[in-house]
Amino acid sequence: MQCPKCGAEQRPDNAICDRCGIVFEKYYKYHPRTVDSGSPAAAPRSRAGVRGHPASNAAGPGALFFPEAQGGDWLALAARALLWALLLAWGLLSALLAAGIYLWMRERYGRGGPFPAKDAASLLNPLREWMQPVAATVRAFRLRPGDTVLELGPGPGYFTVEAGRAVGPGGRVICMDIQPGMLAALRGRLREHSVTNARLLLGDATRVPLAAASVDAAFLVTVLGEIPDRPRALAELRRVLRPGGVLSILETMTDCDYQLEDSVRDLCAACGFTAIDHQRQRTGYLLCFATP
Ligand SMILES: C[S@@+](CC[C@H](N)C(=O)[O-])C[C@H]1O[C@@H](n2cnc3c(N)ncnc32)[C@H](O)[C@@H]1O
Repeated sequence: MQCPKCGAEQRPDNAICDRCGIVFEKYYKYHPRTVDSGSPAAAPRSRAGVRGHPASNAAGPGALFFPEAQGGDWLALAARALLWALLLAWGLLSALLAAGIYLWMRERYGRGGPFPAKDAASLLNPLREWMQPVAATVRAFRLRPGDTVLELGPGPGYFTVEAGRAVGPGGRVICMDIQPGMLAALRGRLREHSVTNARLLLGDATRVPLAAASVDAAFLVTVLGEIPDRPRALAELRRVLRPGGVLSILETMTDCDYQLEDSVRDLCAACGFTAIDHQRQRTGYLLCFATP
């Protein structure tokens, strides 16, 4: 083979021209059209560099991670880095998705009852504000100062504090939950926020220990799906609400006991409620009904 610059005949294993001293690899890099595929210098872009010649180890810093990239081939390097980053992100997303599906399935088929009281703190997760903004949601419940309100399944009281404020010192919020652990968490939260107009009741939604027509408004947030006998619970709500009282039901798709909007409408209509309002939320909906 010949030197691509001066044309001097070279030994096949030469990395540098015997006559003019050019480094073949570098020369070919800047004059790619002169590459002679048969020449020994045309192939030395290997991990070992140009046939072991020290001058040939002039790889760029990227060679540490991408050994094939020599002497600052930054475009190729960036493309590879992007590819690896995308692959990594895809792997991470897949792992997260798989973990999410696993947790959802476990929750869906493993709960078989009310939301566990030991996980009550997760219901106070600040991310909920994005899905169900507390102040706006409680405003939509149409609570008025002085009202007696029934909150069914308050859990640790994500909405109770705001509801207590809405009815004011002349009103009260009756919080009825089936789990003592939830009521204990609720008690702590109410104390922390100095809410004094809430009354806590331990009991089942299908047997509300309140007099007929004694409540001005009632609300349930992600509770309906946990009650096995929903028609009976709604009949109880109808009984305790005064005529013209408002029942609000909020459902979110992030809850594994999510109730479809149509089935809630049908159920409430069958129990004698009239739909008066409907609001879409980021991950669900709020339906308001009135008693005739
Ligand atoms: C998913 S948590 C929702 C708590 C709260 N409403 C919130 O949005 O943060 C459901 C709550 O309903 C209560 N619950 C489930 N079945 C019930 C029933 N039959 N009677 C009364 N409360 C019930 C659970 O104990 C739990 O506190």
